[in-house]
Amino acid sequence: MIDAVQTRPATEVKTNSKPGEWLSWNQEEFEHCFSKRPFLISHDLCDHPLFNVERLLELAQKLPADQIEYNAGQLPVSISHAETPMNGLSADETIRRIAECKSWLVMKYIEQDPEYKQLLDECLAQVAPLTEKIAPGMMKPHAFAFITSPGSVTPYHIDPEHNFLLQIRGEKIVRLYDGNDPTLLNPRELEDFYCDRGRNLVISEENKERCWTYRLKPGQALHFPVTFPHWVENADDVSISFSITFRTPDLDRRRALYRMNSGFRKLGCNPAVPGTNRLCDNACYQAFRVWRKAASFIGK
Ligand SMILES: [Fe+2]
Repeated sequence: MIDAVQTRPATEVKTNSKPGEWLSWNQEEFEHCFSKRPFLISHDLCDHPLFNVERLLELAQKLPADQIEYNAGQLPVSISHAETPMNGLSADETIRRIAECKSWLVMKYIEQDPEYKQLLDECLAQVAPLTEKIAPGMMKPHAFAFITSPGSVTPYHIDPEHNFLLQIRGEKIVRLYDGNDPTLLNPRELEDFYCDRGRNLVISEENKERCWTYRLKPGQALHFPVTFPHWVENADDVSISFSITFRTPDLDRRRALYRMNSGFRKLGCNPAVPGTNRLCDNACYQAFRVWRKAASFIGK
């Protein structure tokens, strides 16, 4: 496992970007690493008007309240969502006072605003020709904007989507762990995650340094493979980041298999971990699809 601060820029191969082409990358690295391990790409969005504070405030006023999540930002690396303290401010105040209010804020599904949707679509259209070869069936595109105070921490957690995190302003230190290593992320943690029992995890002292470490600078973007655990720490400035995500059908299948395993466990069985027995996985997923079809038919 790599344990080194990686600050190098992504090697670019694109030189004449066209309107609507915001991203650039090293083709070989992208093809080799996507969905398997983190890697850096570059973007040209640092001066984009959608990411100035006034425009982000306007966005916050338009979004439904339950799609803005925010809390105090001075947190330990491992803490459950339920224990995370609020900051005592409104979302608006949090954004206006982000330089001094020691907070963390995310606006979710910002593609509800047509301008952010266009930007998300343009970014995903650029990566799709490559991701389709590796993880076909791009669907459920979503974008998120993070605005965080100096020194704030995003606790250790996992996410369900293919993700690129674009750093727009300030710097972030991202620590990412190999989600395929069961000594870092065990199958029961994944099962709990897919059964909606929480996305925050607890990291042990012995595993804390077994990570890739990136100091993300404006203009850089980092690929997070699905369910690779991570935690993030802001440097000394306000940070603004833009996250572009999507899912693929194999992830729905994976989620269904883990949820079925949880059901089997409640019946006293000890099911195989998804991914270890292809025949068993196929049989379970077919059974799930039959059950889902029957349930929807009965519901009509
Ligand atoms: Fe995350």
